[in-house]
Amino acid sequence: MKATRNILVTSALPYANAPLHLGHMVEYTQTDVWARFQRMQGHRCIYVCASDAHGTPTMLRAEVAGVPPEELVQEIAEHHRKDFERFHVSVDNYLTTHSQENRELTAEIYARLKRAGHIAKRSIEQAYDEQRQMFLPDRYVRGSCPVCKTPDQYGDSCESCGATYSPMDLKDPISVVSGTRPSVRESEHFFFQLGDFEAELRSWVAEHIDPSIVRKLDEWFQAGLKDWDISRDAPYFGFEIPGEPGKYFYVWFDAPIGYMASFLNLCRRSVLDFDEFWTEGHATELYHFIGKDIVYFHTLFWPAVLSGAGYRKPSGVFVHGFLTVDGQKMSKSRGTFIMASTYARHLNPDYLRYYFAAKLGSTPDDLDLNLDDFVARVNSDLVGKLVNIASRCAGFVHRLGDGRLAAELPDAPLLESFASEGDAIGSDYETLNYSKAVRRIMALADRANQYIDEHKPWILAKDPANTKRVVEVCTLGINLFRMLIIYLKPVVPELAARSEAFLGVEPLQWSDAQTTLLGTRIERFQTLLERVDPKDIEAMIQESRDEKVSQAPAKSDASEQIDIDTFARVDLRIAKVVSASHIEGADKLLRLEVDLGTETRQIFSGIRSAYDPAELEGRLVVVVANLKPRKMRFGTSSGMVLAASAGKNEIFLLSPDAGAEPGMKVT
Ligand code: MSP
Ligand code: ZN
Repeated sequence: MKATRNILVTSALPYANAPLHLGHMVEYTQTDVWARFQRMQGHRCIYVCASDAHGTPTMLRAEVAGVPPEELVQEIAEHHRKDFERFHVSVDNYLTTHSQENRELTAEIYARLKRAGHIAKRSIEQAYDEQRQMFLPDRYVRGSCPVCKTPDQYGDSCESCGATYSPMDLKDPISVVSGTRPSVRESEHFFFQLGDFEAELRSWVAEHIDPSIVRKLDEWFQAGLKDWDISRDAPYFGFEIPGEPGKYFYVWFDAPIGYMASFLNLCRRSVLDFDEFWTEGHATELYHFIGKDIVYFHTLFWPAVLSGAGYRKPSGVFVHGFLTVDGQKMSKSRGTFIMASTYARHLNPDYLRYYFAAKLGSTPDDLDLNLDDFVARVNSDLVGKLVNIASRCAGFVHRLGDGRLAAELPDAPLLESFASEGDAIGSDYETLNYSKAVRRIMALADRANQYIDEHKPWILAKDPANTKRVVEVCTLGINLFRMLIIYLKPVVPELAARSEAFLGVEPLQWSDAQTTLLGTRIERFQTLLERVDPKDIEAMIQESRDEKVSQAPAKSDASEQIDIDTFARVDLRIAKVVSASHIEGADKLLRLEVDLGTETRQIFSGIRSAYDPAELEGRLVVVVANLKPRKMRFGTSSGMVLAASAGKNEIFLLSPDAGAEPGMKVT
């Protein structure tokens, strides 16, 4: 008997300002498969997650939606929770970081770090939006790269030449929030002195982190561990730092503490003991599953914070790569930026879980969801090979054996050879080599089908003298099927549950692969899994293309609706573009002169990245004519041109059908 392990696993906490997409599901599938595998082994494996509530993006998005950030967070966390359910991600608890438990733990950890002398305080200079009266995170300042001059780059690094710099180094910096030029202000910040932990981190990394990640970490060690700014100034959506009015904990400080908070929240409702999993000296294990973009936070900051505050460090951090769809970054306009909920409206989540598992290895390589391959693979492996075994055998057991399996098996060695693969498959799961596990399982499925092909029960059944033999052959087939379902159960929980009902058995455990099902009744075969219909893929892509651009889920709440009179106050007009030109010093805007039938106006429109001025002249557009004029650096903008947008390069101007005239009212 193996000793029972006590394991706590987490997945990275998705931001509470947007719904989950299929990229997220790579991680939640990877974690869930592992957790389910451990539980099937008889281990105690607790899986917690939460929505990551805090930060500037949530604050600004809530403002746009016209709701308090707390409300937005609750709403989106609920959305996340439902997606987890739809995909059978078996979390034991799902909280948000804007919770009482997280507030308590964050304050406590900060106090301990401070007491131990790991927190420094000093003044820094930062970009400040005078109009909005707020400090700007690096990503909220854009401008031309100081090194290569490429326009429209973020305030921290250049996508074109890779240079890193601070926002005020940009040529012509612009605040993304207000469109104005930021000033520079000084403010006092709190820093966590990561360097205090260098030696400890080096040896922890060497022991607990996969070599594929260690190389990157070595680079970071070489470069030197810098102090980490863990505070932000008001206005900020987060926890105020105790004793420091107007200062807030940076979202990345309290986010990983959210792992503890979600677990603490669970402990308070159960018999679990918090300390057993978070303090030193217990035989418990702690693993974090993350994407490759957040390695620094989880392998340097987080273990150092834990250690500095007197907690245990993780037993391991598992890192996966990024998802592409049909070989490219997910894209709104191609319809491949697919929300988890959109997928689940059209397709069975087990398909995707299977497809991801078939592609996931233990190293952080990117993986591609190729939609044609997805259809082919699910149909040929899951339906054509696996489920087919049961469907080929069940009918004979009912027709010739009254639904009862035979009392003994022919060809026992075949079943034994399946049973003996259990350890290898188990160790593939344990070491996150899911693709290897799937390959082994499908090779066994081939052998099971081959066995049925060789024994041809449909021919044997023609002679009544063979009745017993046919039921025995099919009983073996059903047992082979059962074994494969055990092995694949961590990946396809829904298919496994339906198979258990079909077999008339209790939830299957890993050790059940060492036993045989004999003499019991099975249900009549009903389709356990439908084939993927490519039409469903098309419909999903179409829907993803059409979906609302805003990342926030649609509100159906009546308070969000407006009446016709409110709408009528917006004066929408058809206008013709008379001229269009670039503006010196504005990387996003075009200057448009539009003819509204009765007058010509100047409008600045943020469509530069998608349109060439020359192609706009003469084009009809839709304009908000009664928008308050806005003074900008380069002149006054009187109105707004309507466009759909899904990001800076995906902008689509709205135009009327042929025949419309400048000045026409749009209703
Ligand atoms: N909120 C932070 C994590 C805080 S953990 C204390 C965050 N959130 S996220 O929503 O951007 O990402 C959540 C997880 O999903 C991350 O591990 C991230 O790597 C992963 N993925 C996000 N997009 C992904 C793909 N396209 N492909 C694979 N994983 C992806 O980061
Ligand atoms: Zn550059």
